[in-house]
Amino acid sequence: MDFLSPTRYVPMNRRRRIYEGKGKILYEGPEPGTLIQHFKDDATAFNNKKHEIIDGKGVLNNRISEYIFNHLNAIGIPTHFLRRMNMREQLVREVEMIPLEVVVRNVAAGSLSKRLGLEEGTQLPRSIIEFYYKNDELDDPMVSEEHITAFGWCAPQEMDDIMALAIRVNDFLSGLFLGVGIRLVDFKIECGRMWEGDMMRIVVADEISPDSCRLWDIQSNEKMDKDRFRRDLGGMLEAYQEVARRLGILNDNDRPAGSGPVLVK
Ligand SMILES: Nc1ncnc2c1ncn2[C@@H]1O[C@H](COP(=O)(O)OP(=O)(O)O)[C@@H](O)[C@H]1O
Ligand SMILES: [Mg+2]
Repeated sequence: MDFLSPTRYVPMNRRRRIYEGKGKILYEGPEPGTLIQHFKDDATAFNNKKHEIIDGKGVLNNRISEYIFNHLNAIGIPTHFLRRMNMREQLVREVEMIPLEVVVRNVAAGSLSKRLGLEEGTQLPRSIIEFYYKNDELDDPMVSEEHITAFGWCAPQEMDDIMALAIRVNDFLSGLFLGVGIRLVDFKIECGRMWEGDMMRIVVADEISPDSCRLWDIQSNEKMDKDRFRRDLGGMLEAYQEVARRLGILNDNDRPAGSGPVLVK
């Protein structure tokens, strides 16, 4: 299979839609075993109880996620990502998703702060990995390795692979963001099984973007992630633009004129 060949043109309305989630749509890809991941402008939180359209968010997440996954591939961390196709879409390898949200935390925030009474911003003694069962009806409950292996969501060996991947992604992302003046507080990944003949390996799938990370400006502690939306802070799009700009994805002059004050320096 030649993934580098120009994709044959398939009109949008003739593509087979495989799945529509809260933030993305999956279409059948141009080659067997591939999918097109389409990033929508929908912002959702608290399992869809809060919902808004943020014009341009999908474009930014597509670009930021592309940038991160390209770097992960380049340093030998296996992912589903093949290439970006256009402003909103990327070509990925189809994988068998493991129904877990794998969260890595470096600094206390969000539900961890609430549950354990830790002040947000407290540096954790070491990086902590948590697992949540990906199930909207149940509001993604937190689960332990025991639940995961007992219910067969993944095998003990796969858990080891997932944790090793999560730590490698954390090390890479922490450094990447630190270099552009951003503290990586925590993030979430989703993993899947990629089959290559008889061989199977666990890869990073889905997306990594300000929707799935907590990113704080090093100097001001200003939030540059989805918490701007969850907590009604405003300026979500501007914050995502600033993340993209610092990563060198957007040029200064790419910022649309009249898009308002820049929130984070
Ligand atoms: N490479 C892949 N192969 C198959 N499914 C994937 C892949 N990458 C991501 N997914 C799944 O596609 C969906 C992406 O859409 P999203 O809007 O995030 O859905 P959700 O609301 O379920 O989180 C998710 O359910 C995610 O688990
Ligand atoms: Mg999702």
